[in-house]
Amino acid sequence: MSRVTLSRYLIEQTRSHNTPADLRFLIEVVARACKAISHQVSKGALGGVLGSMETENVQGEVQKKLDVISNEILLEANEWGGHLAGMASEEMDNAYQIPGRYPKGAYLLVFDPLDGSSNIDVNVSVGTIFSVLRCPDRNGEEGDLGEEAFLQPGTQQVAAGYAIYGPQTMLLLTLGNGVKGFTLDRELGSFVMTHDSIKVPESTQEFAINMSNQRHWEAPVQRYVSELLAGEAGPLEKNYNMRWIASMVADVHRILTRGGVFMYPRDSREPEKPGKLRLMYEANPMSMIIEQAGGAATNGTQRILDIQPTSLHQRVAVFLGSKDEVERVTGYHQA
Ligand code: AHG
Ligand code: MN
Ligand code: MN
Repeated sequence: MSRVTLSRYLIEQTRSHNTPADLRFLIEVVARACKAISHQVSKGALGGVLGSMETENVQGEVQKKLDVISNEILLEANEWGGHLAGMASEEMDNAYQIPGRYPKGAYLLVFDPLDGSSNIDVNVSVGTIFSVLRCPDRNGEEGDLGEEAFLQPGTQQVAAGYAIYGPQTMLLLTLGNGVKGFTLDRELGSFVMTHDSIKVPESTQEFAINMSNQRHWEAPVQRYVSELLAGEAGPLEKNYNMRWIASMVADVHRILTRGGVFMYPRDSREPEKPGKLRLMYEANPMSMIIEQAGGAATNGTQRILDIQPTSLHQRVAVFLGSKDEVERVTGYHQA
């Protein structure tokens, strides 16, 4: 049987699901940028790409060299093709304007260029997360694209995906009709479909949370995690295993592969912030993928994809993964 590359899958989608040609092109370009990032990441110390810059991003986090390199790769790959009206990224304070010399298109691209940066220097999986939205009609308005254009709930995403740079480089993609997984064939230079229908198992025996923050959690999370830890003797009547990679991409990838629940709750360390993870380029794309794979994603009280964003870098509490577990911990927030 001939192998289905990402390009071929996208062409088939244009035929069978009317995926517009410019969206197909956009995904092709993002995938090409992810290949370039994968290449940079894999150089490690040989390429002089490890370590930190002397700069901080808008969230006050020290930028790693690879955060900045990955951001630039994505901007440069996507700015000239005519498929985008603008971009936004974890690593940039404001919306990125398509330079005037290039044509503009119908879509907005939002990304976390390198997720899990704390893992780069220790050679553990990192990734790129992206979300595609339609640019609202600007009624002929010229001039810079403001942040408001991006502030659409996750239900409006037309595509979402991530690349994981691990033992294999993979691209997971949803166009709103299921989730496909592609593995980078480095000899061919193409992403080849290796997982044609990714589904999160409904129930699970594995959870992911940064336990070191336990003393800061709110009551519903304390209750749920204590039940998980109680195992067979507790109310859930089974033993759970725990994993925490500290790269959302890698934790979510594991959940898409063998089930589980991932949690980054709000906590009392910074009470004014509703969590650590960012809604627009972490929680929304991951929630679309998880839902498309049959799982669920909430912030404890609400479906993440229904949240109306109020700012580009807004944070959100995240509970996602196997349906039964997400429903249980979400229920505890209502109790
Ligand atoms: P980023 O590297 O893009 O800033 O994201 C890191 C995120 C996420 O990938 C991960 O789940 C979480 O931060 C880890 O947080 P802790 O360091 O608190 O474990
Ligand atoms: Mn991240
Ligand atoms: Mn990042």
